[in-house]
Amino acid sequence: MGKPTFGLTGLAVMGQNLARNVARKGIPIAVHNRTVETTHRFVEEFGHEGVFVACDDLAALAAAVQAPRSIMMMVKAGAAVDGVIEGIRPYLSKGDLLIDGGNSFFEDTERRAKALAAEGILYIGTGVSGGEEGALNGPAIMPGGQREAYERVAPILTRISAQVDGEPCCTYIGEGGAGHYVKMVHNGIEYADMQLISEAYDLMKSALGLSNEEIGAAFTQWNEGDLDSYLIEITAQIFRTRDTLTDGWLVDAVLDRAGQKGTGKWTSDSALELGSPVTAITEAVFARYLSAMKDDRTRASAILPGPSGKWQGDKRTLVAAIRDALYASKVVAYAQGFDLLKMADARYGWNLKPAEIATLWRGGCIIRARFLNRIRDAYLETPDLQNLLMAPYFTDAVGRAQENWRLVVTQAVQAGTPIPAFASALAYYDGYRRQRLPANLIQAQRDLFGAHTYERVDRAGTYHSQWG
Ligand code: 6PG
Repeated sequence: MGKPTFGLTGLAVMGQNLARNVARKGIPIAVHNRTVETTHRFVEEFGHEGVFVACDDLAALAAAVQAPRSIMMMVKAGAAVDGVIEGIRPYLSKGDLLIDGGNSFFEDTERRAKALAAEGILYIGTGVSGGEEGALNGPAIMPGGQREAYERVAPILTRISAQVDGEPCCTYIGEGGAGHYVKMVHNGIEYADMQLISEAYDLMKSALGLSNEEIGAAFTQWNEGDLDSYLIEITAQIFRTRDTLTDGWLVDAVLDRAGQKGTGKWTSDSALELGSPVTAITEAVFARYLSAMKDDRTRASAILPGPSGKWQGDKRTLVAAIRDALYASKVVAYAQGFDLLKMADARYGWNLKPAEIATLWRGGCIIRARFLNRIRDAYLETPDLQNLLMAPYFTDAVGRAQENWRLVVTQAVQAGTPIPAFASALAYYDGYRRQRLPANLIQAQRDLFGAHTYERVDRAGTYHSQWG
């Protein structure tokens, strides 16, 4: 047997599972971890699944892989990636390829790619989505970097990725940081999706007083229709899980303080920078911040007055209304994510293909959902679609859902149930469909207090007036 052509460093859970995925496909792989024992324990435990070559340090890893080398880094985003690059660089030759499969910030990827390109080393920054299970059985892979670099590892990446209708959930995204950017936006949509599902849960629990079994049943049923998605599926699973410590429901034992590693915030940061109103995604980031203020909320809950959160009315009708509100808001979140991708593409010149991105996201990743087929169709039909909401299928679907969407938002506001993502998604929809917004008044105010000037609706040019 010759040397493996592929290597991987970073044997935490994602790295381990990805390495096993590669080996299980019959592709020999050299593996390395900073802690040597981890590498040996890993090979001992999973060696029967394929051909692994254990390497004790980065020099050994480089030596174990056939040149031109392809070596994947599955280490924590940030300084650890730079550390691995510095560590392995002396052992690499021109034409070798490094692949960063972590959730790196796209500007870091651009910087690293540029620095390595100067030495003739190729670089791919790729999003890998799907958690532990996806890494092992087929993740969604979003590779960005030099096209020739991608072509070299495409046979491996497309084989280990998830497949939907015979198509791999792995497509070349674009130059430089494009792959990590697309993964970042995937995560932004993931944040919005999770927040929306949590708001639906809160409405069913706090406003309607449903039991966990009833809530789980609603999610299970929703997962059979056009809301069919991984996140709804696992939500239903959560509501079937008992707590082994107390014998109650496990979800009730979980502290209501959401963590985050930064990709959602980066999405909002980038949207603010590019001028893309990703309101549902940003509300989802803020909702996590508010959740983290547990002590403040606990004090405030005893002081700030407001309604009880209880709804009156037929529960079945209201559950159906919440479903529609969730669907419509979810479409808005995806519409905002794709709008951000369009703006980023205009800025960075990646030549992103929305239909291919929608195709790729259909399987393996956290935001996989049945309606990504519809998104893909929409972009195949109109590649330069102005906004997802303008695709006839979604115009119609959201149009039909909106009566219930409005009902849910008004009921929640009156009952005092916080629904930041539902409400902001609806406000975006209503703002987007308004030919004239009250921004004329903002312009008038700016001109009055700061002579910032304004344009007129009836003639060209820039004006400044003496107001009042
Ligand atoms: C994925 C996920 C994953 C992400 C987690 C946690 O696509 O598999 O997006 O990459 O790390 O979802 O993210 P937060 O800690 O920010 O919630």
